[in-house]
Amino acid sequence: MSDAPDQYGVVGHPVAHSWSPFIHGIFARETGQSMVYRLYDFTPEDFRDRVLEFFLGGGRGLNVTLPHKIAAAEVANELTPRAARAQAVNTLSLQADGTLLGDNTDGAGLVHDLCDNFNVVITRRRILIIGAGGASRGVLAPLLALEPVELVIANRTEERAQSLANEFSDLGAVSGVGFRYVSGGAFDVIINATSASLSGDVPAVPPSVIGPETVCYDMAYGKTDTAFIQWALARGCTHAIQGWGMLVEQAAESFRVWRGVRPPTGPVLTALKERAARAG
Ligand code: ATR
Repeated sequence: MSDAPDQYGVVGHPVAHSWSPFIHGIFARETGQSMVYRLYDFTPEDFRDRVLEFFLGGGRGLNVTLPHKIAAAEVANELTPRAARAQAVNTLSLQADGTLLGDNTDGAGLVHDLCDNFNVVITRRRILIIGAGGASRGVLAPLLALEPVELVIANRTEERAQSLANEFSDLGAVSGVGFRYVSGGAFDVIINATSASLSGDVPAVPPSVIGPETVCYDMAYGKTDTAFIQWALARGCTHAIQGWGMLVEQAAESFRVWRGVRPPTGPVLTALKERAARAG
């Protein structure tokens, strides 16, 4: 038996700005787990080989972020039901028999943050999700499980929204549209699941989707307000939330999958906000 700490990490491209090592470092300290957590920048071309290399070299688990979540589902030998439903993976774990289990903790992370940290109600409400990529896929099933009266997926490329909606239509009232066809007035909750924030863009949905009571949630986060949050605030939104909490909650859920203990998230969230504010 070696006393070396167990190896974990996050793989993305780019990944240098990830907060995950900071978050998991605090989780490990708080729960007394012996582990290291590093950043791995793998290109899409190298993703599969480098991930297998990591696990063959003794790695125990990886978080997976942009743009690899769908590729990670293909690398895994087995998927949890929630990852199979999403066909996207953000957590890979080495199992006792040497195979890789793919899980997806994004949906649980979002629902935890929205419903538990911010007391947002999804049941019987109108929900708009913007974006139809891997980030959307991961959260659709847990949101539909809460039985919104309607869940609309709006995407720049309309066909992607429609096919994603079709894939999840057995779980509830979900439809897919292009940006300019979003209708029905103000939504109760709007979730930005596009990667537009990364380039400072705002998805071109009609401003009529926002009313005074609308909760706007950006899965992206930054030291200052993201472009989507600025856009929402400028249109009268009074409940605009950046995705720091989802980041921490999905991480806590991954930590639980790997280590069997769910760390408390409050202290990490506070430390993260303080650190982000100092870095700004
Ligand atoms: P992810 O895994 O993060 O979801 P993805 O599968 O590449 O990554 O999907 C990115 C999502 O952001 C898509 O919904 C994309 O819209 P398209 O399907 O039309 O490409 C959306 N997106 C990216 N940049 C955008 C922008 N500037 N404006 C609007 N939507 C954007």
